[in-house]
Amino acid sequence: MTSAPTHIPVLLKETIEALAVQPGGRYIDCTLGAGGHTVAILDRSSPGGQLLGIDADPEAIKIARARLEAYSSSILLVNENFVDLEAICIKYDFLPVHGILFDLGLSSLQLNSRGRGFSFQHDAPLDMRLNPSQEITAADIINTSSEAELAHLLKTYGEEGYSHQITHRIVQERPIKTTLQLVNHEFENLEAALKRAINLLGFDGRLVVISYHSLEDRIVKQLMQRESKDCICPPSVPTCVCGHRACLRLINKRVITPSPAEVQLNPRSRSAKLRVAERIITHDEYYRTTEEYRFSAQVNGGWRRPALLEKLRVTFSAL
Ligand SMILES: C[S@@+](CC[C@H](N)C(=O)[O-])C[C@H]1O[C@@H](n2cnc3c(N)ncnc32)[C@H](O)[C@@H]1O
Repeated sequence: MTSAPTHIPVLLKETIEALAVQPGGRYIDCTLGAGGHTVAILDRSSPGGQLLGIDADPEAIKIARARLEAYSSSILLVNENFVDLEAICIKYDFLPVHGILFDLGLSSLQLNSRGRGFSFQHDAPLDMRLNPSQEITAADIINTSSEAELAHLLKTYGEEGYSHQITHRIVQERPIKTTLQLVNHEFENLEAALKRAINLLGFDGRLVVISYHSLEDRIVKQLMQRESKDCICPPSVPTCVCGHRACLRLINKRVITPSPAEVQLNPRSRSAKLRVAERIITHDEYYRTTEEYRFSAQVNGGWRRPALLEKLRVTFSAL
């Protein structure tokens, strides 16, 4: 008999502490996966806690929905990309929130699923779509992009020092149809999603990000550092001209990593890095922000109207 596939949540205790989960709190898990972190958040936020779970993979939503059946009155699960976090929160009037979690990358269920084309342990069609209803697969990109475009992708998103040599080889070998050559990295939307997440946090709300790749971690680290400073002028500028105001307070000065015992139990946790920051917001900003979001939800019948949201974004960034 084969056992059911599992995903072991990474840095679970550290994540719950970093989110400072409280009874009655409202939380967003932007990378629901198998619901491992979500279950712990729901248990700790009981009674009265609420959780919005997002995943781009419909299969993950299906698995998590079955697992979380006992919590159905406290959860809202949506099959969306976290880059649309703001619009999702406005649609469901789920804001402000006490904590937002991003546990980036792929779950063990996805990596172990041969048919999804993520694994480089088994050979399978080169697919790599989180949502199988999307039209473009990794094979389409690999087989139709120019050599220069592929080299740029590998260098920028894979931090690959030999991008030109590898790309040259790929182009010679085309068409490429299976997974063994390449790995999917989803970086493009991360910075945008993190900025939106900050705007959705209420007083002292916590933003917690677990990353598994140095480029992802750099995006998180640089954003948290920049947003925790009152001035981001270059050192050569004698007097501040940027007008930037800190909207985050760093909670862990040093990155949190798994213990040797966790790595031994779950080798996939070995590259994990957890960063946490807390929202800084004044009473005035808080009420203005939530009222504007609420207004946006009403005038849009739930969905965002881009022009209005753009105006709100300009307002927030000017605060
Ligand atoms: C590492 S797993 C999360 C595991 C989860 N924390 C648990 O303990 O069960 C990451 C999940 O994020 C999802 N994901 C990755 N990028 C996404 C994106 N841009 N938008 C929404 N979900 C995404 C993947 O489909 C995957 O299910």
